[in-house]
Amino acid sequence: MNCTRLAAASLVALALAAAPSARAEDVIKVGVLAPMSGPFAPFGRQITSGMKAYLKANGDKVAGKKIDLVVKDTTGPAPEVARRLAQELVTRDKVQFLAGFGLTPNAMAVASVATEAKVPMIVMNAATSAITTKSPYVLRVSFTLPQVTAPIAEWAAKNGIKKVYTLVADYAPGLDAEATFKKVFTAHGGQVVDSLRIPLKNPEFAPFVQRIKDAKPEAVFIFTPAGETAVAFMKAFSERGLDKAGVKLIATGDVTDDDVLDAMGDAALGVITSHHYSAAHKSPENDAFKKAYAQVAGAARPNFMAVGGWDGMHLIAEIVKKVNGPIDGDKAVAAAKGLTLHSPRGPITIDPNTRDVVQDVYIRKVQKVDGKDYNVEFDKFTQIKDPGKP
Ligand code: DHB
Repeated sequence: MNCTRLAAASLVALALAAAPSARAEDVIKVGVLAPMSGPFAPFGRQITSGMKAYLKANGDKVAGKKIDLVVKDTTGPAPEVARRLAQELVTRDKVQFLAGFGLTPNAMAVASVATEAKVPMIVMNAATSAITTKSPYVLRVSFTLPQVTAPIAEWAAKNGIKKVYTLVADYAPGLDAEATFKKVFTAHGGQVVDSLRIPLKNPEFAPFVQRIKDAKPEAVFIFTPAGETAVAFMKAFSERGLDKAGVKLIATGDVTDDDVLDAMGDAALGVITSHHYSAAHKSPENDAFKKAYAQVAGAARPNFMAVGGWDGMHLIAEIVKKVNGPIDGDKAVAAAKGLTLHSPRGPITIDPNTRDVVQDVYIRKVQKVDGKDYNVEFDKFTQIKDPGKP
C-alpha cells in the first residue's frame, strides 16, 4: 500500500470510529428465550411477534433508550439449553432483561441464572404456579394454571356437570391443572371419577381417549400445551366419537388456542373453556393490538402467548421509564410491583406480594364469528389472583 492509500485508509477508520453509533448506555438489551424451532416453534413466533408488535405500535425508544431484542432459540422443552443460552445472554450480550419463556421447564432452569446475575426475568407464557417462587427477579405477565383452571371447575359444577374425568399433560403445569380442578370441582359438589396423565412429547391420544369413553363420564376436563398437542387431542376426541357419545369437553383455553382453533375444524365447536385472552375479546386495546400484530405477522391470528409478548414488552417499557437510569434487578422488580397495565385482554396488575399477574378470567364457548371459529366470551371471573399461592 502506498502512502496516499494508507492515509486514505486511516481517514476512513477515523471517520468510522467517530460515526454516531448507539452507546451501550443508550440501549436496553432484552434477551428473549423461546422455542423458535421444532414442534413448539409457534410459541416463539407468537411471543416474539407480540413483542415486536408492541414496539411497532409504540416505537422502539423508551426514555431516550433504544430497545434491542436478542432472540435465542431454546428448541423446545430443553432446560439445559435454556440455561446455557441465558448465561450467554447475561455474560456476553450483557442483556438488562431476560424475557420470553414459552415452557415451564425452561423458565424453572433459568430462574437461578436471573438470581445470580440479578437480572429481571419477564415470563410471557410459562404458567406453572411455582415459577415466580424460584427467583425474586421473576415477574409474570401471562397466567397460572390454577388461576385459569379454578374458574372452569366452579363454572362446570354450577352448570349441571357432576362427574368429570381429567386428562392432563404429565409435567408441572398439567399437575397444577389436575390438582386445582379436583380441589375446586369437589368443593362445589362435583366428583372427579378418574384422572389420566399423558406424556408432554408426542402423546398418542387414542388409547387414553378410549379409556375415557369406556368410563362414560359426563365431561372430560383437559389441559395440554397449546398448539399441535391440542389439535391431536381434538382429532382423537371426535374420531373416537366421544362427542357423539354425549361426553362434554371442558378445558383451559390452551386447548382451543387461537393460533390453531380455526384449523381444528368443527370438532371444537361448542367446547367451553376458561382463559385470560381470546382474539374475539371486544375492547379498543385489543383492536389496537390486533392491528399492530397484523403489521408484524400478517394474517396469523394472535393468541394468548402473543398477548404475553405484548404485555411483557409494555411492562419492560414502564420499568425503564420508572427506573430512568441504569437497570438492575432490584430496581426493576420494585418498579414493577403493583403496576397496572391496560392489556388487550383487560386490566392486569403485577401482584406486589407474588410478582404474579392479577387479571380477569373469562368463560368462553367456541362459536362461529363471520364464518370462523372463535372463543366467544360469555362470563367473567373478575381480577383473579393465582390461587396456587398462600
Ligand atoms: C405451558 C403452559 C401452557 O398453558 C401452554 O399452553 C403451554 C406451555 C408451560 O408452562 O409449559
